Amino acid sequence: WKTLDDIGLAGKTVLVRVDINVPMEAGRVTDTTRIDKIRPTVEDIIVRGGRVVLLAHFDRPKGKVVPEMSLSHIAGALEASLGRKVVFSPESIGSVAADAIASAEPGDVVLLENTRFHPGEEKNDPALAAEMAKLGDVFVNDAFSAAHRAHASTAGLAHLLPSAAGRLMEAELQALEAALGTPKRPVVAVVGGAKVSTKLDLLGNLVTKVDHLVIGGGMANTFLVAQGIEVGKSLAERDMADTAREILAKASAAGCTIHLPVDVVVAREFKANADHDVVAADACPADAMILDAGPMSVAAIVKVFEASETLIWNGPLGAFELTPFDAATNAAAKSAAALTREGKLISVAGGGDTVSALNQAGAAEDFTFISTAGGAFLEWMEGKELPGVAALTA
Ligand code: 3PG
Repeated sequence: WKTLDDIGLAGKTVLVRVDINVPMEAGRVTDTTRIDKIRPTVEDIIVRGGRVVLLAHFDRPKGKVVPEMSLSHIAGALEASLGRKVVFSPESIGSVAADAIASAEPGDVVLLENTRFHPGEEKNDPALAAEMAKLGDVFVNDAFSAAHRAHASTAGLAHLLPSAAGRLMEAELQALEAALGTPKRPVVAVVGGAKVSTKLDLLGNLVTKVDHLVIGGGMANTFLVAQGIEVGKSLAERDMADTAREILAKASAAGCTIHLPVDVVVAREFKANADHDVVAADACPADAMILDAGPMSVAAIVKVFEASETLIWNGPLGAFELTPFDAATNAAAKSAAALTREGKLISVAGGGDTVSALNQAGAAEDFTFISTAGGAFLEWMEGKELPGVAALTA
């Protein structure tokens, strides 16, 4: 794929697909990370003499105009973050959009309305992509986190205009390539979360790529069950035991060492500060549930981190939203952050829950790279081709 360095931008109207699908509460943006991250691309295009026209989705309006999902609500936060005037167009195609673009002064940024207000967006309708293409000369995709969607504004447009990856897309792809494509070995992956069933493809792909796989969260319980261990009232997918055994066998054949908890924190209630005990992983009482990995497990994970060159992390190790069952996630995250700071580890993490867990642990800023992506990060780790990226290379 091309970057902004490979494509003429001077005097061009540049359609830039961004992902500003940010969390909002009571009409206010509560986390501006995704907005802040598009700034290098916007600045680069303007410095090179291009006009920036942003295309983006917000939430899931399913092809209808839903006023609460209008991007007009984001325009203020965008203006504040970019430090530039934002001209909002209440349509993403046609004469309304063309007029808004024509009215913008050099250095302004045009924000077009939510692309998902058109049913053709999610269908990747060529007619809608053609309408969008009429508005500009060049297409830049900076929305890695929406690249797992084959939509008109992510994949369709790339086939109609000279196209390039924006700076954020470039950084995401480089970081992921360094973590899983051609990594410094040994590589350790941490995969946590509630269910094996939602991360089957991920586990199946990772065991063939990484040297160590640390499994945590509820899904570790399913692996314990697969080994004949009783887990009491813990969350576990008993019907996935065979699948878990297959993953263990695949890992062993591929030379990937799987690390499961050796001790666990158990409680009788799923609530913050519930009475809890640390027991061996095979000693969960029948009336208790496993809510976190124990201190011996954390020590073992830290040892694996110390012996590794690269870490890729998706999913918390325990019920991190409830104190003190965030202890294992916090301790492991802090150790990864310290090793990264000391230059001993390349650490990459992604996924909504993961990023909040690392932020909560105060570890995120020391990581080598934190992806802005949720679903796209997961699909990339699963080894799937992302249509938004593939379209840039076609
Ligand atoms: C995300 O928030 O992960 C992206 O913006 C994609 O959103 P979607 O899951 O609604 O396609």
